[in-house]
Amino acid sequence: MISSRILCMLLMTCSSWKGVMTLDREACMPIRLSPNQQDSLPDIETLRTHRGLPGKAGGIGPVGPQGAQGPKGLPGTCVCDPSEIAQIHVDQCDHMPCKNGGTCINDGNSYICNCTDGYEGNDCTIRIQCVVPSAPNNGTISRESGQLVPYKENITYRCNDRHVVAYGVNNFLVATCQKTKQWTKDTPVCVVDDCNPDSCSGRGTCINQIGRTICECDEGYEGSDCSVQNNPCDLSPCGQRGICVWEEDINYTCRCRPGYHGTNCETIIASDCVRAVGMEDGRVGNNDITASRSLNSAHPPHKARLGQTASWLSPRSPQRDEWLQVDLKTSTTVVAVATQGYSHGSYWTTSYKIAHGFTENDLQIIQNNQGQDLIFQGNRDYNSVVRNNFPAPVTARYFRLLVQTWHGPSGYYAALRVEYYIC
Ligand SMILES: *[C@@H]1O[C@H](CO)[C@@H](O)[C@H](O)[C@H]1NC(C)=O
Ligand SMILES: *[C@@H]1O[C@H](CO)[C@@H](O)[C@H](O)[C@H]1NC(C)=O
Ligand SMILES: *[C@@H]1O[C@H](CO)[C@@H](O)[C@H](O)[C@H]1NC(C)=O
Ligand SMILES: *[C@@H]1O[C@H](CO)[C@@H](O)[C@H](O)[C@H]1NC(C)=O
Repeated sequence: MISSRILCMLLMTCSSWKGVMTLDREACMPIRLSPNQQDSLPDIETLRTHRGLPGKAGGIGPVGPQGAQGPKGLPGTCVCDPSEIAQIHVDQCDHMPCKNGGTCINDGNSYICNCTDGYEGNDCTIRIQCVVPSAPNNGTISRESGQLVPYKENITYRCNDRHVVAYGVNNFLVATCQKTKQWTKDTPVCVVDDCNPDSCSGRGTCINQIGRTICECDEGYEGSDCSVQNNPCDLSPCGQRGICVWEEDINYTCRCRPGYHGTNCETIIASDCVRAVGMEDGRVGNNDITASRSLNSAHPPHKARLGQTASWLSPRSPQRDEWLQVDLKTSTTVVAVATQGYSHGSYWTTSYKIAHGFTENDLQIIQNNQGQDLIFQGNRDYNSVVRNNFPAPVTARYFRLLVQTWHGPSGYYAALRVEYYIC
């Protein structure tokens, strides 16, 4: 009977056992190749996949590290073939070449180190440092000139007594070492401090330049010593909403136009706004008043003028959303609308919506605070004026009243006379 050891040695000689040295485990992995594989070794990934899987490598017999089982469970000896070792894909980062916390990036046959802040060089071994410059005249520096200071660290320049950093207000200046090995600030010039508490009339900051001082004035003041107060009204704080009044040394006051309130007349109270856009007095031209439809030429859209005789009349059987539109020609902030019915009686509009926009094709309907179209309650008789304030001022060029419900014998004719109000 042949011993198992002798059988194995026989097989290894005859059947080309080969071994592959793996770098990660420092173990020798034998594989067994069938005769037709002998000239073409499996690629590295195949070797890895098959590593340690009994019976898979090379397709025949179990495999394993040194002393592994050979075919049919017989022990074998690993033989490492240097030509195969060379084929193993070596991860260039395995030996951790990047120092000081740098990140290694495998780059095929090589590697790149992404260094942490403050380091540079192929392997991040070089510390970034800045050279301490010489001290300013009439000043000192916190580190010795010529010393190397690491990235991100500071040095402090300090001017001698009664001196300050030129173009500044302090007697010191901190500079930080940057990645570029440059300091964030150049060596300052120390100058004699010529500022005094009165230099800028107490309304600015005095700055020493070389050979002179200047004032940076607080808001509202100007002049070389900040003694001149700016007129706050120059900034039009009241806009077109009121008149700005200013007397020297006091703050401005806005005298607000009717409807406007607040320090800068910024709040509109619609009920106080009584200026009509000009339906009643004819400033809105006939051609700028249009409607979805009209009954006849005796009751055209431009008859829809508040306080005037007759009215616009819809066709006999109006539809809901029958509309009457005013083109105000320019962007206008409107706060309210008022309506009346037909001046000879019988017909009026009982509820409506208001749409507005900057072009006729893109109108939006005023909404209530639940996001639904707001329905304004209209007239209850033909002649009383009913005014509705908008929930908020609306700025637009086109204003379109959309009839929702109306009153008239047999449901005939919606009638409207309209005015809009601004502040
Ligand atoms: C280098 O590291 C920084 C910080 O971790 C990272 O933002 C950057 O993307 C890295 N660069 C490369 C090329 O990986
Ligand atoms: C220091 O300042 C004084 C004036 O205060 C000036 O006369 C002198 O030249 C300065 N010293 C240097 C080294 O610049
Ligand atoms: C350097 O100075 C800056 C301000 O100029 C400061 O934010 C930073 O903390 C300082 N760094 C060190 C290391 O002292
Ligand atoms: C002047 O009035 C405006 C607006 O009320 C205010 O913002 C500013 O602080 C005032 N200025 C002074 C100096 O009172």
